[in-house]
Amino acid sequence: MTEESDLYFAQHPVGQMANLAYLIGSRSKRQALVVDPAWNVRGLLDQAARDGIEIVGALVTHYHQDHVGGEIFGHSIEGLDALLELQPVPIHANKHEVEGLIKVTGISPGDVVPHESGDRLEIGGVAVRFIHTPGHTPGSQCFLVEEAGRAGHLVAGDTLFLNGCGRVDLPGSDPRAMYESLEKLKRLPDDTILYPGHLYSPEGSDSLGDQKRTNPYLRAASVDVFLSFMGH
Ligand SMILES: [Fe+2]
Repeated sequence: MTEESDLYFAQHPVGQMANLAYLIGSRSKRQALVVDPAWNVRGLLDQAARDGIEIVGALVTHYHQDHVGGEIFGHSIEGLDALLELQPVPIHANKHEVEGLIKVTGISPGDVVPHESGDRLEIGGVAVRFIHTPGHTPGSQCFLVEEAGRAGHLVAGDTLFLNGCGRVDLPGSDPRAMYESLEKLKRLPDDTILYPGHLYSPEGSDSLGDQKRTNPYLRAASVDVFLSFMGH
């Protein structure tokens, strides 16, 4: 008989831009990290509380307002500032994203833990590996959720969507870096489950193996094909 999984994992649709926030943690430790808390921070904390889970940190995929809060098009989105008021926890961001993150959200440098690619956080039997995937923004990162003997969960922010990838025509974007980041993600095992930062497709997740076969952005045969695909 296989041992029961210790993973606590919830996908949470939030806001008016089809964002997906996540809770990742350990059932036995009753603790979790919240990924991209924005739009409805109270709702995310309430879900964890209902499940008897304490939020012990926040993970940032990238610094765009729809993922971390801030002003956009004259509209204010709640995010990390609301989280720090309700539940002061460390904010984990890639080191290349810290400056933009502080500018966009107004949180203070002392609230942010800068990370290198390859860093890991562990909660109970669950490990979260940070993978730097620049392209959409300089410090975009994905989170690989690992548990011994089980398929990984890849929380990919705006780097990789189901049958799509993030925009590379924004300030700080880099199409060549995006190609390399997607190549990096393609090296993960086929049974890894992809969880994107937006619900742009009917399904909320898919196996990376299926995406390698069907996602045109993962199928580009070379960097030049990819760049022409992206209009460069
Ligand atoms: Fe974004």
